[in-house]
Amino acid sequence: MTPQILQAVAPAAGMARTHGIDAARYWSALMDLGAITDPLQPWTRRSFSALFIEGRDWLRRRFDQVGLCTHVDASGNLIGRIEGTEPGAGCIMIGSHSDSVPGGGRFDGIAGVIAGLEVVASLADAGKRLRHPIEVIDFLAEEPSEFGVSCVGSRGLSGFLDATMLARRNLQGETLGQAMLRMGGRPARLAQAVRRDIKAFFELHIEQGEVLENATLDLGIVSGIVGIQRLALGFKGQAAHAGTTPMHLRRDALAAAADLVGWVRQRAIELSTGTHYFVATTGQLGVTPNASNVVAGETSLVLDIRSSAQAMLDRFVDELQIGALAIAESHGVELARFDPLSSTAPARCDAHLMTLLRESARALNYGAMDMFSGAGHDCAFMSHIAPSAMVFVPSRAGRSHCPDEWTEPAQLAAGVATLYGAVCAFDASAPL
Ligand code: HGY
Ligand code: MN
Ligand code: MN
Repeated sequence: MTPQILQAVAPAAGMARTHGIDAARYWSALMDLGAITDPLQPWTRRSFSALFIEGRDWLRRRFDQVGLCTHVDASGNLIGRIEGTEPGAGCIMIGSHSDSVPGGGRFDGIAGVIAGLEVVASLADAGKRLRHPIEVIDFLAEEPSEFGVSCVGSRGLSGFLDATMLARRNLQGETLGQAMLRMGGRPARLAQAVRRDIKAFFELHIEQGEVLENATLDLGIVSGIVGIQRLALGFKGQAAHAGTTPMHLRRDALAAAADLVGWVRQRAIELSTGTHYFVATTGQLGVTPNASNVVAGETSLVLDIRSSAQAMLDRFVDELQIGALAIAESHGVELARFDPLSSTAPARCDAHLMTLLRESARALNYGAMDMFSGAGHDCAFMSHIAPSAMVFVPSRAGRSHCPDEWTEPAQLAAGVATLYGAVCAFDASAPL
């Protein structure tokens, strides 16, 4: 890994102040946190890892610097809080996640956490104290973790993290509950951890698609977030010699898995042409013994199924089980595993917060459109316990979850400034 890729990129000259926020300060913080990554596989900061903890320590120092009072809640989320002028008022929460996928991008998640920091710092610059307390949050493990569970912290905060999930083990045998303890969480207290005092939740995030770029617009006001079902499947056949085992005598688990991957793709193409958003992906495949001269004895697959309609998710999973059993039978193998890993319902964003974001963008002369999110976000869980909304900034060529994920400094500044305006407008208008 050549070091220059890790070098921070200087923001364009004259970027400093943009509509009340310090764009250069924001960009510099983003590059600094982004640089805390696996140097051999940028950009990687996997949840629960030493790099993730290093990133958390960096965030905690930044939270302290802007005057936030910081703690880790029972769900393992890092939260910084600054009181408002109205004692007892519910809080405005702003944030996202600082973990990444392996070999992901440098903006997914941290763009939103640093945006929360920038809002607080800009209020301080302006000598402004809001009526509502403000909380900036870094949610624990938004990306699918080694425990097979995503959005760990926002599930915990909203009451959707159950004992089955906490008991899930990683390859080292550690449970999710034990890993949360390592992050400073207190899983035993999750039942009391559900927040009921949040008056508004805002999340800035990169779009991770190319809608805004193709529409040459600055911002997306998110109307809804896709529901996601993740399942672990497994086929068990018979490992055999690749040279001496006749084709008709094979029980080939990889051939079965290949047929299943094709079935998932074909069925998703058919369903994607309907009125509802629908995609399905087989992103993980394990083969045992995974040798060129051995007919595969076992395969494991993880499927990621997404739709704007819960009924479509449910229907697809039912069809998938029938299809997988038929494929297993045709190859003389066993469908040894068909386990739901995690489930997130489709979410709607709050109409009033969307209006505040839209009005803030318009006041700053940014072009914006309402749009649906095919990516999952912590905001989906937050929408169960508080009015919630997201603002998207463009992704170059729609690329994300890969090292060439990119958003321009000015595009990010537009998002942060719009967020800042909406937060101030909410604070000024909301009944306490
Ligand atoms: O997978 C997702 O949609 C999100 O980026 N975690
Ligand atoms: Mn992601
Ligand atoms: Mn994300």
